[in-house]
Amino acid sequence: MTAVEAHYQNHLAPVYAWMVGGLEAAFEAGAEELDELALAPRAGEFAVDLGAGLGGHAVPLARQGMRVLAIDSSEEMLSSLRQSAVELPLQVVNDDLLNFRSHVPERPRLILCMGDTITHLPSMATLERFMTMVANAIPSGGVFVTTFRDYSKALEGEQRFVHVRSDADRILTCFLEYQSGVVTVHDMLHERAGERWTMRVSAYQKLRVRPDTLIARLRDLGFSVEHQTSGRGMVRLVCTRR
Ligand SMILES: C[S@@+](CC[C@H](N)C(=O)[O-])C[C@H]1O[C@@H](n2cnc3c(N)ncnc32)[C@H](O)[C@@H]1O
Repeated sequence: MTAVEAHYQNHLAPVYAWMVGGLEAAFEAGAEELDELALAPRAGEFAVDLGAGLGGHAVPLARQGMRVLAIDSSEEMLSSLRQSAVELPLQVVNDDLLNFRSHVPERPRLILCMGDTITHLPSMATLERFMTMVANAIPSGGVFVTTFRDYSKALEGEQRFVHVRSDADRILTCFLEYQSGVVTVHDMLHERAGERWTMRVSAYQKLRVRPDTLIARLRDLGFSVEHQTSGRGMVRLVCTRR
């Protein structure tokens, strides 16, 4: 099991739906983001969502009638997504997103890799390989959309402590530790049990992807790239295959 898989299994997956404000809120936010993208999905077209998680984008796409393949390596996230997928044209696969081509029976009109998933890849060389696979999979006129956090400039001092979500019984905070090429994200989860609080900490590394480097590479690979900012303060790249 990779460090990312272990982090999701032991730490993040059990509270992910809470972290995003509930499943329906996540589907609504995903639907809004898809509307902003104005992709004009047509019923029956084929889309792939890589690192689909709970289905924040896969579910609204399928609700709009696209045939969606959702891939993720966290069984905990996927068991929730499978329940959401009932009666939707949404196929759920547990695998590393790097193997996506072996699950794709036809060329997708749309590939998504959203919500800071590309930064989970183990190295810049792997990200480079992934971009090439995406470019080879998408037909001319097809679209690849990715959103990710720009960790290229290191935050300092107390800026490195990020309050993610809290309520009366739970607090999730991140601490960011910057190293060369990567940032270690320490997720601290405080939970109340009666009168007492417990704290669990789990850490994993994310890539410090520079948006301009990624954009240049995607252009080299034959995409025209639009650089936007997503609602959650992430970099959003909308890449159309020439
Ligand atoms: C931050 S969540 C984003 C989920 C969703 N895309 C969203 O926007 O809400 C990242 C997801 O990517 C998955 N993931 C990370 N690395 C992966 C890999 N190499 N292969 C497949 N899934 C991966 C995690 O299990 C997790 O569900």
